[in-house]
This record gives sequence, structure tokens and C-alpha cells, in this order.
Amino acid sequence: MNPGVAVASVTPSAARLTESLRDIGYDFSSAVADLIDNSISAGAEKIRVIMDFDGEDSRVFIADDGTGMTVNGVIESLRFGSRREYELGDLGRYGLGLKTASLSQGRSVTVVSRSPRMKEPQIRRLDLDLIAEYDDWIVVVPPSDTAIVRARELLAGDTGTVVIWDKLDRILPAKQANGGWAKRRFDGLREKLATHLSMVFHRFLSGEGDARRIEIWLNDERLSSWDPFQRAEPETKELGNESFEVMVGDLAGKVHLRRFILPSRNAFSSPEAFDQASGPLKWNRQQGLYIYRANRLVQWGGWGGTRAVDEHTKLARASIDFGTDLDAAFNINVAKMRVALPPQLKQMLGRPISELCILANNAYRVDAPRRRSNGVAGMSQEVSNGAEIGLAIKAALVRTGNFEALTAISDLLKQESPDLAKSLGF
Ligand SMILES: Nc1ncnc2c1ncn2[C@@H]1O[C@H](COP(=O)(O)OP(=O)(O)OP(=O)(O)O)[C@@H](O)[C@H]1O
Ligand SMILES: [Mg+2]
Repeated sequence: MNPGVAVASVTPSAARLTESLRDIGYDFSSAVADLIDNSISAGAEKIRVIMDFDGEDSRVFIADDGTGMTVNGVIESLRFGSRREYELGDLGRYGLGLKTASLSQGRSVTVVSRSPRMKEPQIRRLDLDLIAEYDDWIVVVPPSDTAIVRARELLAGDTGTVVIWDKLDRILPAKQANGGWAKRRFDGLREKLATHLSMVFHRFLSGEGDARRIEIWLNDERLSSWDPFQRAEPETKELGNESFEVMVGDLAGKVHLRRFILPSRNAFSSPEAFDQASGPLKWNRQQGLYIYRANRLVQWGGWGGTRAVDEHTKLARASIDFGTDLDAAFNINVAKMRVALPPQLKQMLGRPISELCILANNAYRVDAPRRRSNGVAGMSQEVSNGAEIGLAIKAALVRTGNFEALTAISDLLKQESPDLAKSLGF
């Protein structure tokens, strides 16, 4: 095809583009998590997030003991669309995260990094106000200030990287950045961040499976992992796991599914443990699929468009694992916090997820407090209504490996006795 005659190169306006890239969907927690991805990719073992409240001079530091960057590496890291090869399993993909995540929260990002054999760390900064002034993607060597001194201390002579967020205009109010409101907001973000990181990186924090074990510290608190599946609870049940071959275009890869039924309140080891297991979005919205990309949780809660969230299935949680070879099939976004299940996979998940939800529903009802008053004579109260009988039949069919029979019975009943089918909940 004739490409046409080039007449101009329309280089983007740095001033305008950087401003619009601030709003591509990060919140504070997901922005920090994207930087932690970088630290993990750089082989870090200990990552420290420091949130320093000081009015207008408040700052966030994300420090790691990874491999650090070379002189050119530090500059390249600040390029929108960093040039780099990615290995399979690398958490990075777009060459954007460091810039977009950082600038979504503040107007200035500084990288302080030391690679092996480097005497002094390299320090470079991107500042939106400078970019706006010169309408160019300018990187500067900033003058030393207390934040840079702190970053140098955090590196303490070893290799690693510290990213500093400054001018936190998206976190602090323009006026009264010193006020009580600003402080409370800062503290609130810190609490949310702790829960977010404990969940998103839980496999790294506990060293589960092939995830490399890391430590994450938030100010002076060492974060522990939060297991969505509550596997330490004696009454948690796991159903059989399954693997699927997913092919989208010329992409092919394996997806793994694990299914869990968490104990109901009465069966939990303690009421506190039950509340803790609820998770940041609480029981109802934490039910569903937990989707992991290279061991990092990228989406949680809800059923990925395969079914609706329902109070009765709130004890059901399942993990889905895919590798970075399937990134395009899952449509991973830049902020690494949303994916779309490939349609073919959605279809394959139909049966195993229905099975899980039937059993979870059964577990929920069996343990639910009995509030029914109109028991039928001769029947115990548990089996006094159609939906309950239907559910018991469904659960028995699933437990005996007869899901196909369930589908057939359900179709037949719906056809021949729609009213009965309805009252049984089929
Ligand atoms: N903490 C770090 N330690 C070492 N190198 C880093 C660190 N953070 C960033 N880099 C380097 O800077 C580059 C740019 O990072 P950035 O997060 O912008 O993009 P990415 O990780 O390659 O892709 P993505 O946009 O998917 O995050 C990385 O590819 C990496 O080479
Ligand atoms: Mg990145």
C-alpha cells in the first residue's frame, strides 16, 4: 500500500500531553503499586514506602534495594515510552508507569538511583511546571534539598532506586495544605494503601508459589499478606482446580483456576477473623474472581461479567492466573488494575463457576440463622421452602460430579413444569 508523502511531523505538545496523561485512571494506591511493580522487576527484596506529611512540602518516597539504574537508565526511565525489552513474567509492559503513576499524584517526580560500581547515585527529575514552561520533555538535575538528602540516606551506599513524589497537588488541597483536613486525608490514604498493598502483592509478601518473597514497609510498619482465600482458616474449602488453554488470534497460553468456599461467620475461627477476611470492599463485593498477572493481583471482586454479585454467593472466591504472554488477550490497562476476560475463557469458566456458586450458596444457607416461621407440618424447618430443596438438589448434583445432569434436569423442568422449576430456583 502506498503510505503517502510525508509533509510534517506532528510531535505532541509536551505541555498538553503530560497534563492529560495525569488522568488515565490511577488512584493513590494503584499508583504506588505500579511503582512497586518496577521495584519487583528490578529484583528488590525490601521496598519502603514513606509518606511524609509536611503541609505543602509533603512527600512520598518509594525506595528499593534492587539493581538500580545506570546513568542512561535513569534518564530513559523518565521517558514516556521507555525503550526496553521485556522478559516473560516482567511486570512492566508499556514504558509509562513510572511517569503516569507518579504525575497522577503530584507535579514532580525525582529518580535517585545507584547501580553497581556507581559511586554517587544519579538524580534526575521531571517537573510538570518546567515542562509547561518550555513545552518540552525536559529532565533536570535538581538542586539538593532535604528530600534528596533523605533519598541518599535510604540508599545507604547500596544499589537501588528511590522515587520521590513532590508537589502533591492531587493529594493535598491547594489551600491550607497544612490544615487538619489535609493531614487526615494523608493518613486516610496511608491506611487504604496498607490494605491495598497487602492484598495486591500478597503472594510476594508470603512468598507463595513461584512469587519471589519481598518485604514491603509503609513508614515503620511491615506489611503482612492478606490472603483473599483465607487458607489458614480450618473451615475454608477448596474445590478441584482447573486449567484452560486460551487462544486469541495467534496468542496461546494457559490460564489456571482455583476455587474456594470461605467459612460463613459461624464457622470462622473468630468474629474478628471473619471481619478481617471481609477485605477492603467488604464481603459482598469481595466475592468473585481474583485475577493475577504474573502473581500480581490486577483485578478483584465481581465475576468478570460471567454472573452478578449476590449476597447468597458471597463466600465464593476464585483465583485466575495468567502469564504476561496473554497480556493482549486480557487487555491489561496501563494502570494494571483492569482486565477483560477473553470471551472464550468466559465460556469455559461457566460450569466451574456455577458449581462454585451453588456450593457457596448452599454453605451460606446451611449456616444462616434460621429465621423462618412458617414450617410445613412434618418437615423440618430447613427444608420448608422450594428454593431450599432446589438448592440442596443442585448442591448434591454438583458434589457428585453431575453438573451436566443438573443442566439437563433444569432444562426439562423449565420446559414441562415452569412453575415448579421456578419455585425450586432452577
Ligand atoms: N525501581 C526501579 N529500579 C530499576 N529500574 C527501574 C525502576 N523503576 C523504573 N525502572 C526502569 O525504568 C523503566 C520505565 O519504568 P516504567 O514504569 O515507566 O515503565 P515499565 O515498567 O517498563 O512499563 P509499565 O508502563 O508497564 O510500567 C523500566 O522499564 C525500568 O527499566
Ligand atoms: Mg512500570
